[in-house]
Amino acid sequence: MKLKTMLTAASAAVFLSACSGESDHSAAHTTVAEHAEHEMHASYEYPATNGVYVAMLHGTEGNENVHGFVMFTQDEDGVFVAAHAEGLPANSVHGFHVHEFGDCSAPDATSAGGHFNPHGRDHGGPDSEERHVGDLGNLHSDENGIAHLEMLDHKLELNGPNSIIGKAVVVHAQEDDLTSQPVGEAGARIACGVIVADDEMEHQR
Ligand code: CU
Ligand code: ZN
Repeated sequence: MKLKTMLTAASAAVFLSACSGESDHSAAHTTVAEHAEHEMHASYEYPATNGVYVAMLHGTEGNENVHGFVMFTQDEDGVFVAAHAEGLPANSVHGFHVHEFGDCSAPDATSAGGHFNPHGRDHGGPDSEERHVGDLGNLHSDENGIAHLEMLDHKLELNGPNSIIGKAVVVHAQEDDLTSQPVGEAGARIACGVIVADDEMEHQR
C-alpha cells in the first residue's frame, strides 16, 4: 500500500509539473503531493484489496489552463476524496461531481453525461440525505486559482454495481447551489477526468 500511495503522489507531482509552464508553482505541487501522501498514511489505513483510484483532470475547450487530479481511496467509514485543481479563476467556487459516463472526449465534456445517480434521487450536496451519489459539492479556489479539497464521503462506492470506477469527475464553471434541480445550476464543464485504478493511469495519459 505504501508503495502504491507513493507512486500516486509522485505521478501527480510529475503530471502537475509537466502540465504547468509556471515554475513558480512547483513548490506548491510538491507540497500538495507530499501532503496527500502524508495524509493517507497519517489518518487512514486502506485495505490492500482496495487500491488508490485517480482521475487526472484536463481542461475542456477554452479552459485549457485548468488541470489537476482527484484521488479516491476506501476507508472503513466511507471513501476518502483528495482533490487538487489549478488554473481556476481566483477566489471562485466550482461545482464538483462524479458523472455517469467515463467519457471526457467531447470538447465541452458533455460526453460524461449527467450526475452519477444510480438510485434515482434528486440533486443535493455531499451532506444531503437526498442527493445523487456523484454530488460532491464545490471546489473553492484561492487567490492563485488553486483549489484543494479533502473529504470523507459516505455515498461513494469503489466496489460493486454502483462503483464510481470508470465514471468521470467533472469541474464546473460556476458554483453548485446544492439545491437547484437537476444539477445545481453549476453551468458549463471546465475540466473532466476518468476515474481509473492508479495502476492504469499511465494508459490514460
Ligand atoms: Cu457535474
Ligand atoms: Zn447532482
